[in-house]
Amino acid sequence: MGAQLTKNDKRTCYAAELTKGDIGSHVCVMGWVQRQRDLGSLIFVDLRDRSGIIQLAFDEKTDKAIFDAAFALRSEYSICAKGTVRPRGEGAVNKNLPTGEIEIAVDELKVFSTSLTPPFEIVENSNVNPELRLKHRYLDLRRPDLTRNIIARSKIVKIARDYYAENGFIDIETPCLIKPTPEGARDYLVPSRIHHGKFYALPQSPQLYKQLLMLSGFDRYFQVARCFRDEDLRADRQPEFTQIDLEMSYVTEDDVMEMNEKFLARLFKEFKGIDLPLPLQRMTWHEAMERFGSDKPDLRFGFELQNISDAVKGCGFKVFADAVANGGSVRAINIKGQAAKFSRKEIDALTTFVKSYKAKGLAWYKNLNGEVSSSFAKFLTEDEMNAIVKALGIETNDLVFIVADKNKVVFDTLGALRCEIAKRLGLLDPSDYKLLWITEFPLLEYSEEDGRYYAMHHPFTMPMEEDLQYVDTDPGKIRAKAYDIVINGTEAGGGSVRIHDAEIQSKMFDLLGMSHEEANEKFGFLLEAFQYGVPPHAGMAFGLDRLTMLMLGIDDIRDVIAFPKIQNASELMTKCPAKPDDKALAELGIAVVDEESDE
Ligand code: AMO
Ligand code: AMP
Repeated sequence: MGAQLTKNDKRTCYAAELTKGDIGSHVCVMGWVQRQRDLGSLIFVDLRDRSGIIQLAFDEKTDKAIFDAAFALRSEYSICAKGTVRPRGEGAVNKNLPTGEIEIAVDELKVFSTSLTPPFEIVENSNVNPELRLKHRYLDLRRPDLTRNIIARSKIVKIARDYYAENGFIDIETPCLIKPTPEGARDYLVPSRIHHGKFYALPQSPQLYKQLLMLSGFDRYFQVARCFRDEDLRADRQPEFTQIDLEMSYVTEDDVMEMNEKFLARLFKEFKGIDLPLPLQRMTWHEAMERFGSDKPDLRFGFELQNISDAVKGCGFKVFADAVANGGSVRAINIKGQAAKFSRKEIDALTTFVKSYKAKGLAWYKNLNGEVSSSFAKFLTEDEMNAIVKALGIETNDLVFIVADKNKVVFDTLGALRCEIAKRLGLLDPSDYKLLWITEFPLLEYSEEDGRYYAMHHPFTMPMEEDLQYVDTDPGKIRAKAYDIVINGTEAGGGSVRIHDAEIQSKMFDLLGMSHEEANEKFGFLLEAFQYGVPPHAGMAFGLDRLTMLMLGIDDIRDVIAFPKIQNASELMTKCPAKPDDKALAELGIAVVDEESDE
């Protein structure tokens, strides 16, 4: 049986808190055996806790019983050690370890519990198969890098709570069982036992509740809010994630941006020691698309888009000429001076890369030490070619990529291509932070597939007053009072001024093709509430997981979440989702008609 922890077993400090200043003092540490080294009459054990590692020393001559107990220690045993801090012996100093100059000469050892041999070694930067790690996530989390990430996340939350509390925000919890909402991503549904055939939804965000809290008079709301979206997962997306969510009454978009960039400045200062220059840069959505082909541009590098539609309209290369004639465009990026870094094979790989953005092809032009090659020269006259070279300002050792298509495809493709090329050229320094606000988003997005408009942000976002004139004639042209904060090409947060006017809200539902009845059915509670004196209000939400990734320079969102889900939205450790038992289904009045087979 393992030893019990008694009232005399009081930890005096965490392992890595010990320093040379503690030499001579008697301490008590608790944690796991990282490894045990048996040197005959001496045994050294690295003890690990959440702070790091301290070396324990056992000498056969000092106490044979304790020495024998140390001899039996194996990796991941849970132990307590008491003893005196002393300098390490000559030649035993470990410069790579913060506690590398000291050790504890142990005079009391307890083994609380033994451990099986772990399925992977608990070390930093483990290269072990991610599935195996996730299956044993509790062990994975013992690895120092993951431990650090989770602690860092907690620090970020603390900084946010402090900042918003100091600025008069009230932390209010909103429900997790709510009415299913049809807009936005797919809802996670929870069946009701009491009301058969009816379902709750898990919130995609606290949006409507926080707006109602403004109506209720709280004036400034804040919440670290869990959100659920049944979307396809990517490296920066999880089905459940956390927002730093807030809302303010009697403010304009400028007030919200100012309040929140000051939060970011505080976060960067406290967490990274970086002074963010305020106010942050702002860029309209239109400019971001024209220059970077993206509404979340990474400003750490150039390769800006250039529109050569005018130079190629009516040229002999049908791909270019037709794109312009059909209302699309022809745009290019110039990888200035880097032609030598891209072989034909690498250019072919990029041609494959752009296919996933629906581009039909990738035209290129390369000038390597004055020697020109290109994928489209054969289709053009010399004059037409010169016009392109001139329009793009191509010089020796430039490499140019051109895409011709509908604007959306051109932007998506070149927007992604410039990031991919920057990545391949090693230009993405995670310690270089470029932040900006994107403003004046389009209010609506047209879906060719469904033949209707969707709200780009959500249906409660306020249009810009000067664009209300387009409501009946050209709704696609209406810009919204919406803003996103973008950090190094990641959308770290976003928000908007909300509609507080019943007439405008009703117009918005019209634009979304929602009848009066339908709007009432879906959002009646909000519309009714909004008849009782709505303060003008606005807000935003940061993605906490993404902020943490950015602060730590991490690419995989799973590395900042204690118990994440994998690509297919399942969790490997507990094996969820899982089949409930038949009794539970019967109580819910649910029969499964299309069951996934167990592989
Ligand atoms: P939005 O939908 O833009 O706005 O979400 C805000 C921020 O949340 C993060 N985020 C995610 N993070 C991880 N996994 C996901 N699946 C995921 N989806 C979103 C992003 C994003 O910028 N209610 C509005 C905010 C408002 O208007 O106040 C909202 O939810 O960083
Ligand atoms: P092809 O006529 O198919 O040999 O194409 C000639 C060159 O034009 C190749 O480099 C193609 O990748 C490229 N190309 C084809 N379609 C497009 C397009 N929509 N935009 C840019 N380049 C294209």
